[in-house]
Amino acid sequence: MLALALPYTLHVLAALIWVGGMFFAWLVLRPALAAALDGPSRLKVWGEVFPRFFGWVWVAIATLAISGVAMIHQRFTGFETAPRYVQWMIGGGIVMVALFLRVQTLLLPQLHTAVQKEDWAEGARVMASIRRMVGCNLLLGLAVVALASARWSL
Ligand code: HEM
Repeated sequence: MLALALPYTLHVLAALIWVGGMFFAWLVLRPALAAALDGPSRLKVWGEVFPRFFGWVWVAIATLAISGVAMIHQRFTGFETAPRYVQWMIGGGIVMVALFLRVQTLLLPQLHTAVQKEDWAEGARVMASIRRMVGCNLLLGLAVVALASARWSL
């Protein structure tokens, strides 16, 4: 019983942490920082926030992949026999990881460099790209969760 429930529970918790974290960052923290802090201070705060959150995103990605593959074997015997919505979920997950990797490996180092050099114009430009990427990933994550929960096969 536990062996069946555990992958599902971990999978849903990982999705919740990743997508919920992006929701909070985009719709709550971003406008709050814009109202309370000047541009350079905001960039410094984001430079501290992202590495902390991204550590948890790595944990969520590993958990989603391992528990997802475990459930595929438990429930559908293999990838070929998995329903269409699970295949869309995997596709959505791959795009989400690709966008996340772009922010983690390319944009975050650029943000750190701009903050170190106190190049606030460059920092604001990088931050705008990160905001777009995280916004796309948030929409995609919400769509994947809706599709998975509704078991909606396009
Ligand atoms: C490697 C990538 C992934 C694999 C292999 C995978 C696989 C699965 C499988 C097999 C199920 C159970 C489906 C069922 O029994 O009907 C499931 C459920 C679910 N997945 Fe994924 N998944 C992946 C990525 C994701 C991502 C990226 C998200 C969201 C960000 C997500 C969110 C969910 C949710 C919310 C459910 C529960 C749906 C329900 O209520 O039954 N998955 N996943």
